[in-house]
Amino acid sequence: MIASGMKLPKISLGTWLMGGTKEPDPLNNDQNDISVIHTAIENGITTIDTAQNYAAGRCEEIVGEAIKNYPRTAYQILTKQNREYLSYDNVIEGCHESMKRMGIDFIDYFVCHAPNPDFDTQDFFRASNKLFDDGFIKSVGISNFGPKNIEIAVKTSRLPILFNQVHFSIDDDDIITTGTYASCVKHGIKIQAYRSLVSIDDNKNAQPILKKLASKYSISKYQVVLAYLNSYKDIVFTIRSSSKKHWDEIKEAMRLELEKKELDEIKKTHTGKEGNFRQFLLM
Ligand SMILES: NC(=O)c1ccc[n+]([C@@H]2O[C@H](COP(=O)([O-])OP(=O)(O)OC[C@H]3O[C@@H](n4cnc5c(N)ncnc54)[C@H](OP(=O)(O)O)[C@@H]3O)[C@@H](O)[C@H]2O)c1
Repeated sequence: MIASGMKLPKISLGTWLMGGTKEPDPLNNDQNDISVIHTAIENGITTIDTAQNYAAGRCEEIVGEAIKNYPRTAYQILTKQNREYLSYDNVIEGCHESMKRMGIDFIDYFVCHAPNPDFDTQDFFRASNKLFDDGFIKSVGISNFGPKNIEIAVKTSRLPILFNQVHFSIDDDDIITTGTYASCVKHGIKIQAYRSLVSIDDNKNAQPILKKLASKYSISKYQVVLAYLNSYKDIVFTIRSSSKKHWDEIKEAMRLELEKKELDEIKKTHTGKEGNFRQFLLM
């Protein structure tokens, strides 16, 4: 095992919806997206989480535009290899295309976006071993990997698997029920939670306790949710936010320790509903 020396920060900036959805949006306000990235960097959120398939590559181009006037030491890039292209050659090529779109010559965190049974999972890691040896990536991560594919990743990668980017919110607990969380903890893999905020209103049972604790601590219900999720061991977050106010609130939430009985009360409402990303964890 090679020590990469890399560590993922507590908070990264999510970039989903920058440049479009699955396809580029010709009416997208690129300047707005660029200023969202600048706001994050200026507020100390310097790891930018993007993906090859966000707006079919346009998102990475916008990230490239946003970072071009910063020194390379001022930001870190996390990008995710498209799960439709996971052969050894696809992965080598995908990494080079990502770097080209962003105008950079290495990627800090190179991630397999999700497993795909049409490919041999080992190939992503064989290719990333080579990309590391050639100096094109600094570390490797996984996303939407369940226990079976985590074992393959750990066995094949010469680099430590730093993190697993997965859906974790109060609206589903797929990472718990599929054994993904336990498998990550066992292997020392951080959980990087995504979509932790967008759907908190969908959990109706949680609203009274969120309201009560928001009032008690004079914070927002979003901060209560983040403080709750952050009480799980080995959790870090990727969050999309456009405002300094929200970044300040997110940082404040990371420092907040709720009482055990408060955490338990939220946990009781943490639904076991099956989320959209569960299928990947079961592959
Ligand atoms: N690996 C995967 O398969 C996968 C899947 C989905 C997402 N992701 C990644 O995860 C990132 C995060 O997920 P997401 O973008 O879907 O959703 P999210 O980060 O959970 O939520 C984003 C929304 O939360 C709001 N928000 C942020 N901070 C807030 C605060 N302190 N108080 C109140 N509202 C706040 C933002 O509004 P403001 O702009 O007003 O702050 C924005 O509308 C994505 O951007 C993407 O990079 C990965």
